[in-house]
Amino acid sequence: MEKSSVDDLTNLATRRAIIMPAFEIYGEIGGFYDYGPIGTRIRHNIIAQWRGAFIEELGNLEIDSTIVAPEPVFEASGHLSSFSDPMAICDKCHTAYRADKLLEEYFESKSMHKEAAGLKKLKPDELEQMLKQYNIKCGKCGTALAKVSVFNLMLKTGIGPLEAVTGYLRPETAQGIFMDFKRIFSTHGLKLPIGIGQVGRVFRNEISPRKMLVRLREFSQMELEYFFDPNSDALSINGEQVGDSFLEHEISMLPKSEQEAGSSELKRMSLKQCLEKGYMPNKLFAFLIYKESVFLRSLGFPEQSIRFRQALDVELPHYSKGNIDVEALIGDTFEEIIGNAYRTDFDLANHQKHSGKDMSIINGEAKVLPHVVEASFGIDRIFWSIMYNSMYMDKERGWEVLKLDKRVAPYRCAVFPLQKDDKLVEKALQVSKLLVSNGIPSYYSQSNSIGKRYAKADEIGVPFAVTVDYQTLEDNTVTVRKRDDTKQVRSDIGGLDAVL
Ligand code: ATP
Ligand code: GLY
Repeated sequence: MEKSSVDDLTNLATRRAIIMPAFEIYGEIGGFYDYGPIGTRIRHNIIAQWRGAFIEELGNLEIDSTIVAPEPVFEASGHLSSFSDPMAICDKCHTAYRADKLLEEYFESKSMHKEAAGLKKLKPDELEQMLKQYNIKCGKCGTALAKVSVFNLMLKTGIGPLEAVTGYLRPETAQGIFMDFKRIFSTHGLKLPIGIGQVGRVFRNEISPRKMLVRLREFSQMELEYFFDPNSDALSINGEQVGDSFLEHEISMLPKSEQEAGSSELKRMSLKQCLEKGYMPNKLFAFLIYKESVFLRSLGFPEQSIRFRQALDVELPHYSKGNIDVEALIGDTFEEIIGNAYRTDFDLANHQKHSGKDMSIINGEAKVLPHVVEASFGIDRIFWSIMYNSMYMDKERGWEVLKLDKRVAPYRCAVFPLQKDDKLVEKALQVSKLLVSNGIPSYYSQSNSIGKRYAKADEIGVPFAVTVDYQTLEDNTVTVRKRDDTKQVRSDIGGLDAVL
């Protein structure tokens, strides 16, 4: 099988309405996409897997806080003053570009990888110099881009009939967790360390949305804020001490020092080595990285398509003392899919200062203002990168196959009558209903030839297809075809639960 390209994926997504531009009938605005029925199922499955691994298994808690919050919240969080990107606007046609990404695309197109990697270090005035040096022009009208300014990404709204209160759509789900933390901690009888998570929509007024789901203006995150006592090294999860064996786990790491030396060579390292070298602030952070590595493999990411990149100091968000981004291959580029940050007590301390409310908690006997390590997962980028990394062209079959893990596949199984014969149709519908009632997500289809139905199931990643034929009417057996190798086995209908 041959790896499919991002263009192939885009074609598939459009052809099967897996994702589609939002409010398209009124004209597209960049950075807004809707998920169609198949996309929605895959997206829900990704969220369910995350919930299992990061909330349930770890004994953590999940909340659902508001999307809109008043201005003082984001003054305290630092987003109003610091959450911005460098922007270049064309003097003539007023098209806006994200200056660093524009230069990155230019350098990558010329195979100037070192220059592209070096961009992360540059300040707005240095980016401006670069635009001039390389004579970068507006893609629309050809005018030279001359000025780089800083653009705040927050989306503003007015609250109330007279819009007397200024509000903002949240740019991360995290702030709701910080503001609610103290009440949750005291009402639930908790002990540090404890993780509180949230799944939800966030908004960023991105300057140049692009690459389908990679840079959106409305997107979704699954975030986990892990609160811990900075004066204690003990790592207990779900009330139990965690042994050190997870520290032997190896990841592909791109340290800061390598990037500063202009290299993008990955180092295969254990988490223990990462801690010893100071790439991670503590064991809890390393534990989250371990869980992420296992989680991504369980979702079907090949090892070589994932890397862990230590962020350069200039890239660090305003709240962070250290970041490790998890990046996944989409086409030829690694894109950040998870941001891990050591947020210290930055958020709780700032909310304490701005609100005048004490945000510390009593942990056992001690009064503590907890520190936080954060794992922020972007659902849409995870969705898009799983799709990309699962998609292959099978020349023998003559169509594309999406090798999604069965835990994220939109359906576990497709049920087909061999042909449109009333008896076969009736039996196949019965089988489909039986599977659904047994908790196996399945769909029924009778349109087109059986070959075309296999093709349609393969390209949306359905791992099994069950076909009802004339033998079924005699002995209650069906054929089960496996998506990955097209091999077929005969199974009793009653035994399908064990086969699928
Ligand atoms: P980038 O540098 O690519 O803009 P970021 O560093 O701003 O990303 P974070 O602020 O760490 O990203 O956000 C956490 C996660 O949210 C990211 O790892 C990513 O998966 C997702 N994310 C961030 N911005 C976007 C966006 N514009 N569209 C889709 N997903 C996003
Ligand atoms: N909560 C991390 C981020 O979205 O930036």
